[in-house]
Amino acid sequence: MERFSAAFLILCALIGTLTRAQEEVHLPDYLVFMKQFLVHVQIREPSGIMVWTRDSSLIEMFGIELHVGQLNHTHHEPIWDRQLIANTSVPMDGKFLIFDHDMTIKKDEIIRYRFSVQHKGTLSHSNYHRMTVTDHLFYRPKNNVCYSECLMDNQEAMQVETARLKTILENKILDCVGPQASEHLFFPFANATSYVADTLQFVQYRLWQIEGLRPMVNNVVTTYLAHDGVGVKMKSVLDKLKVLELGRGTLDVVDFDAILQET
Ligand SMILES: *[C@@H]1O[C@H](CO)[C@@H](O)[C@H](O)[C@H]1NC(C)=O
Ligand SMILES: *[C@@H]1O[C@H](CO)[C@@H](O)[C@H](O)[C@H]1NC(C)=O
Ligand SMILES: *[C@@H]1O[C@H](CO)[C@@H](O)[C@H](O)[C@H]1NC(C)=O
Repeated sequence: MERFSAAFLILCALIGTLTRAQEEVHLPDYLVFMKQFLVHVQIREPSGIMVWTRDSSLIEMFGIELHVGQLNHTHHEPIWDRQLIANTSVPMDGKFLIFDHDMTIKKDEIIRYRFSVQHKGTLSHSNYHRMTVTDHLFYRPKNNVCYSECLMDNQEAMQVETARLKTILENKILDCVGPQASEHLFFPFANATSYVADTLQFVQYRLWQIEGLRPMVNNVVTTYLAHDGVGVKMKSVLDKLKVLELGRGTLDVVDFDAILQET
């Protein structure tokens, strides 16, 4: 009888252990709950990290505890020298989003994080996740999609690009005009000697009349008086071409090279 009771007790203990073991196979409720939330991590260049999960009626507050470390061969663990610990309870754009604009993260570093969700006043934490920073974590808009728009966003880049195009165009124009072209212009003006007192002032006044030629006022090198008009030497052949082009029809000016060819 005693032996029977002992065996019975052992059997009961065994069944108890088995039941408990079976329970442990199932995830705890809070982890089952947390598994339905997908967390996205995105790294920006030159700095910034964004962590978000989709807006859900189950989330009263979303929180993140994230650490970033670099691998160091002399240490077993990465050196966790950056962290982002924050909560948000306000969804934006359909997301619960946490952003750190200043954190700099490089490829091959390690990110370790867990997130938390508050639901019906109860805060649940996820397990810790760990990942190596690879290229796909970086937000890199494809340049070919927004080539000109990206440039427009950046005034400085736009100016550099404009200057580069201007140089290319100028070289092409000079190729066409040829090396024999001069920087001289001529304002034909009957009896100029009787009427023009200050030739520089005369030329600058004429240029100033046309909006696009105002900057050219500073590119006048010399002026001279002839009986039939006023001559000008501009700083460059291009300056001369610009005056001829923008002054066409309104500014009574001719290319001095053309006068020379006629005679
Ligand atoms: C690795 O850690 C050692 C000791 O903390 C430090 O002196 C060294 O600069 C670290 N190396 C790198 C690559 O960070
Ligand atoms: C986030 O919320 C939890 C729960 O209310 C709180 O314990 C924790 O301190 C908060 N963290 C931050 C950074 O505010
Ligand atoms: C220019 O001068 C000549 C002679 O000096 C004169 O005959 C002529 O009328 C003048 N023309 C103008 C436009 O002033």
